[in-house]
Amino acid sequence: MQRTLSTETPKLVGQEVKLQGWVHNHRRLGKMVFIDLRDRSGLIQVLFMDALAEPANQIRPEYVVEITGTVVERKGKGANPNLPTGSVEIHASSLTVLSTAMTPPFEINNEEKAANAGEELRLEYRYLDLRRPTMRQRLVLRSNINASLRNFLRGQDFVEVETPILTKGTPEGAREYIVPSRNFPGKFYVLPQSPQQFKQLLMVGGVERYFQIARCFRDEDQRGDRQPEFTQLDIEMSFVDEEDLLDLAEKMITNLVKEVVPDKHISQSPFPRLTYADAMAKYKSDKPDLRQDKNDPNELAFCFITDFPLFEMSESEKRLVPVHHLFTSPKDTQVFTSGATKPEDCIAKQYDLALNGFEVAGGSIRIHESVVQQKVFDILGIPKDEAELRFGHMLKAFSFGVPPHGGIAVGLDRLVALLAGVENIREVIAMPKTGDGRDPLMGAPSTLPKQQLDDAHIQVKKE
Ligand code: AMO
Repeated sequence: MQRTLSTETPKLVGQEVKLQGWVHNHRRLGKMVFIDLRDRSGLIQVLFMDALAEPANQIRPEYVVEITGTVVERKGKGANPNLPTGSVEIHASSLTVLSTAMTPPFEINNEEKAANAGEELRLEYRYLDLRRPTMRQRLVLRSNINASLRNFLRGQDFVEVETPILTKGTPEGAREYIVPSRNFPGKFYVLPQSPQQFKQLLMVGGVERYFQIARCFRDEDQRGDRQPEFTQLDIEMSFVDEEDLLDLAEKMITNLVKEVVPDKHISQSPFPRLTYADAMAKYKSDKPDLRQDKNDPNELAFCFITDFPLFEMSESEKRLVPVHHLFTSPKDTQVFTSGATKPEDCIAKQYDLALNGFEVAGGSIRIHESVVQQKVFDILGIPKDEAELRFGHMLKAFSFGVPPHGGIAVGLDRLVALLAGVENIREVIAMPKTGDGRDPLMGAPSTLPKQQLDDAHIQVKKE
């Protein structure tokens, strides 16, 4: 017999079915035993009587079982209006235990208790946490969001390209994770903070329209909306200006909301646009929360922030640093290269997308002229030999014919969290790190055997 999913049963009254899944809960009522069986589609009540009552009484929550039985209508008060399958139940005719289970360290069948079980415990037993319908719905939402974004971009002639993970430093400003190379003692790969340089090189490669659902790595202090590894929907386009990128982002996001979360509503379309200076003057924030009703869980207030400054003073380093990254183009390249404007007053072709007070995307038009790039290096005090060492590959590539180009990257974890109505991005990542960057599930980071360290030419300093 073919397997039936629990949510298919209401259409099959009177029929014999085979169900497989986990025992969600278990209760005895006189000579009858009831369980709620959970599978990927939801829950269904199963009733065991007569000779099956005793074996059914032996099974425990989270056992994996196979049941055959008849779908029977639950009439009148017997029906459960709170359950999508509440109009029927299964009268079991056989029960097979496929696997037994220990008592879980938190109650999977009680959403509230499980959610409050403590994050360390939930992450150590993430595979149990993921059995909760709420967690499953978040994974499904994320998958639907990815599919919608991917389909939209493919429909606009974008090509999905995978870029390297073992690479060389990228200029995104955060500390990098480093990976030793066994074959080259003393040399290291680093993990990319974003595919920034690769996507620009793809533009030199004539790809013109690129996207990737890309994993990024940043060794920075963690917060609720930050993870050491996170995912971006990364986009780059050639022969475009700022307007084209904002237009694309707005259409893509509007389509996403309509397709995937139709119950939510975008409060203002077209998305309001504020310059950085106006946003700071009016809201004291470069990611203002423009919701009209903060108690409405379905309101989505998007806004673009444009015209960021090109440079800012780093308080810790006491020198100018790029606000975005050093490939971002100034608004007026001629004035910029002439030096008529002080570097601190230069405006960049840089934009962010904010949603309900969070930055969900950021991007810029890039520099494609070597005089402009050189001027940026000069202002930042990067000597020629250092520029050559760090970015020589980019400068070389750009000398072979580079189209004007620009892009944007959406912080997918943040976007999914906001659409799922949760504050912490860890709630929408299948296997996230803790707030301090550990993985309690796998036990990472961990020490390594001496041989493995020797192979990688690593000697650990005694603190
Ligand atoms: P940026 O650094 O602004 O731009 O990153 C883009 C978006 O990624 C998200 N984000 C994060 N999400 C979770 N954890 C983190 N640690 C984290 N850091 C950033 C944010 C942010 O808006 N290469 C450029 C993009 C470009 O210019 O095209 C970049 O990475 O939502």
